[in-house]
Amino acid sequence: MTRPLTSMSLETQAVHAGREVLHEQGIHALPIDLSSTYPLHDLEEGGRSLEAMAMGGLPIGSPVYSRLYNPTVARYEQALAQLEGAEEAVAFGSGMAAVTSCLMAAKQRGNHVVAVRPIYGGTDHLLASGLLGLEVTWAEADGIAAAIRPDTAMVLVETPANPTLALLDLEDVVRQAGQVPVLVDNTFATPILQNPIKHGAILVLHSATKFLGGHGDVLAGIVATNNDWATELRKVRVITGNVLHPLAAYLLHRGLPTLPLRVRAQQEGAKVLAERLAQHPAVSMVHYPGLAGADPKGLLGRQMKGPGSLMAFELKGGFEAAVTVMSEVKLMTPAVSLGSVDTLIQHPAALTHRVVNAEAREHSGVSQSLMRLSVGLESPEDLWADLEQALVKAMAQTASPV
Ligand SMILES: Cc1ncc(COP(=O)(O)O)c(C=O)c1O
Repeated sequence: MTRPLTSMSLETQAVHAGREVLHEQGIHALPIDLSSTYPLHDLEEGGRSLEAMAMGGLPIGSPVYSRLYNPTVARYEQALAQLEGAEEAVAFGSGMAAVTSCLMAAKQRGNHVVAVRPIYGGTDHLLASGLLGLEVTWAEADGIAAAIRPDTAMVLVETPANPTLALLDLEDVVRQAGQVPVLVDNTFATPILQNPIKHGAILVLHSATKFLGGHGDVLAGIVATNNDWATELRKVRVITGNVLHPLAAYLLHRGLPTLPLRVRAQQEGAKVLAERLAQHPAVSMVHYPGLAGADPKGLLGRQMKGPGSLMAFELKGGFEAAVTVMSEVKLMTPAVSLGSVDTLIQHPAALTHRVVNAEAREHSGVSQSLMRLSVGLESPEDLWADLEQALVKAMAQTASPV
């Protein structure tokens, strides 16, 4: 290659990252290594390699056993690290396996975590459950500094937040966190629209099940970070077995070249739907960073390259209206998850955030009238026709009888 890949555009990197070694070997398509074990004719070398990986390092020669290392997974990790501007990335069997592993790694430094709500319901559930023996302080965005203690091991935030699309100023979060490492769940923004490491975050997490997979057929998680944290995370992965299957890594890597195109095209559709929803009589409020007045801190442009393709909206008819919308949409899929090429709509309070403490849920804006929409690649006109007919039915049903 004439210039280093890292100096090229994001589009070029998305196509070629993690594939350089294949080009050198004369291989064009991504190979999948499904070996669960590897022959070890040199016992001493095998033992040394195993020991290195058990400590979170990379293999010295043989990968030994695929819970320790897999080359198909490693190539995808390299690609994703590059897109996030990180030294390394570590992949896991799901987004929640990634969150759990980060918290387990953090626990070696202290027993306290600071987090800001709203956050994905599963992450909230994990933190609130006490399962990992971590104490949690739920802080408001401007109260992070006050919540930090000598034993705080991590600050955990999501921006845009699931499901309200609330935005956080990452540089402010990092400043408030001081010496404490900040983990940013970047699932909603993707590396195409936001790179938290540029703003001082130490760990950037994705539920790769979402945009990175993009086609609704992979469950995966990945964390982009520095060498030290990557070593800690690999160690946790080896010990706990939170690994990503190579077939899933293959699908993720295969989908990476189209990620920039998908993210931008889905965003264009979302802009249209957000504008129309904001005008609709069944809707009282639309939460979408691209709408006028939705970004008072001026984060679009400074921190995010675009508003993305997720939005939340509140229905005047409340929960009853949401039930009707879920049952009446025909083209959109009424389902949890997001970031797929097809459009998904769901009711967070009843589904993804059901497990969150009800009072805290309401306080963070996840009301009974809130729906979340993940816009796919369909024509916005077809999507609008589908959503509008469902909204009209919801209005008719919830109109109070005279
Ligand atoms: C923002 C965010 N983080 C993490 C997760 C957990 O990921 P997974 O479902 O892949 O375990 C999700 C899942 O919806 C999510 O939306």
